[in-house]
Amino acid sequence: MVACATDTLLSERDRGCRRENRGTAVTEPGRKGYYLVRHLFPATGTHEGGAVKEASQNISIRPLDEGDLPEAGAILRRAFATQFGMPPDTFWADRDFVTGRWVTNPSLAFGAWIEDRLVGSSLGTSWGSLGVFGPISTHPDTWNRGIARLLIPPVLERLTELGARHLAFFTIAESTKHIALYQRFGFWPRFLTAIMTRPVDSNEIVGESVRYSAIADADQAHWLDACRTLTIEVRDGLDLTTEIRTAHTHGHGDSVFLTDGSRVQAVALCEYGPKSPAGAGSCLIRFAAVHPGSDTEMPFVRLLTACERLAADQGLKQVVACVNASRPKAYRHLLATGFRAQRNGVTMHRPNEDAYSQSAAFVLDDLR
Ligand SMILES: CC(C)(COP(=O)(O)OP(=O)(O)OC[C@H]1O[C@@H](n2cnc3c(N)ncnc32)[C@H](O)[C@@H]1OP(=O)(O)O)[C@@H](O)C(=O)NCCC(=O)NCCS
Repeated sequence: MVACATDTLLSERDRGCRRENRGTAVTEPGRKGYYLVRHLFPATGTHEGGAVKEASQNISIRPLDEGDLPEAGAILRRAFATQFGMPPDTFWADRDFVTGRWVTNPSLAFGAWIEDRLVGSSLGTSWGSLGVFGPISTHPDTWNRGIARLLIPPVLERLTELGARHLAFFTIAESTKHIALYQRFGFWPRFLTAIMTRPVDSNEIVGESVRYSAIADADQAHWLDACRTLTIEVRDGLDLTTEIRTAHTHGHGDSVFLTDGSRVQAVALCEYGPKSPAGAGSCLIRFAAVHPGSDTEMPFVRLLTACERLAADQGLKQVVACVNASRPKAYRHLLATGFRAQRNGVTMHRPNEDAYSQSAAFVLDDLR
């Protein structure tokens, strides 16, 4: 018989209460106002005297502390290396997908422990009315034992508490496991999304742009307000200001603004360096948008050039941009200007709707 408390973080279905082959799930109050899920399930069988002996193990889900981040990062690298068939000890040693997300909002980072061993993590980023889920990873030794199913709901719930009315992320399009896992939580695969790269041409000429890192402390709030005014035109409630600020203060990126009179006409948040997910030598455009009222490609061209200039000034060799096939003008522009796809994925959405208004043609977003 499965015992499920009523006042819990996870829904009955999400806690796996009906999965009797996975044992019993109970909940209890956890730290920071969250609930732990204690999920008893059979450990991998061990052979003793020819007989398979099974032991039960506790799994708990709770917020990640700062001290957990190195191990969470190591598990993430091992998980993706295994996923992609790469050597686990060296894969993605040049990047960090965990710390920057945690620093931006630690309440959106959760870990899973078997007994006292961390075995996985899930994180999210709040862009106001848009919640970005991920990355999630579990140790390959524990795959297909229900741990991701426990790690997903706390992040989704927290994103919703922070104002998300739409949830989205990027995943591996060819993985039937990934698509099926997320569909259980109401996500639907929508558009092919290409991760594209182009070598930096340091001779590019740049027009007028403003970098967040160059704005005086006293003026930063004003610029962030102007940026928010732009992004809410792209999508009602869209707000990247926390991530823009944190990329600068944590030292994993910078943002560029184009202006049109007194308003911000376009913005791009770029991530780079070992504290970022970009990888050595790369400038990753995490998000870029031109005001939806702009009727020509020109501001988009200028915005990409400003990103490239930033990359060149940082000594980086390539720009990485993610473009969604639902925005053909931006996609075609990248193709026409020498960007080449390195990997295709798919964005999944809950509800099954476009994240941005259809008129927002010139948007790049890395939802990993
Ligand atoms: C993706 C990942 C987080 C899943 O973690 P996990 O702990 O193995 O996931 P769970 O066991 O909770 O759920 C997996 C489900 O998919 C099912 N599944 C496995 N292979 C499947 C397949 N080929 N088709 C459909 N479903 C499949 C499993 O049976 C399980 O469902 P069940 O709980 O009903 O049995 C983990 O594989 C991982 O870390 N991968 C590498 C990193 C990565 O890809 N992260 C996600 C990027 S978006």
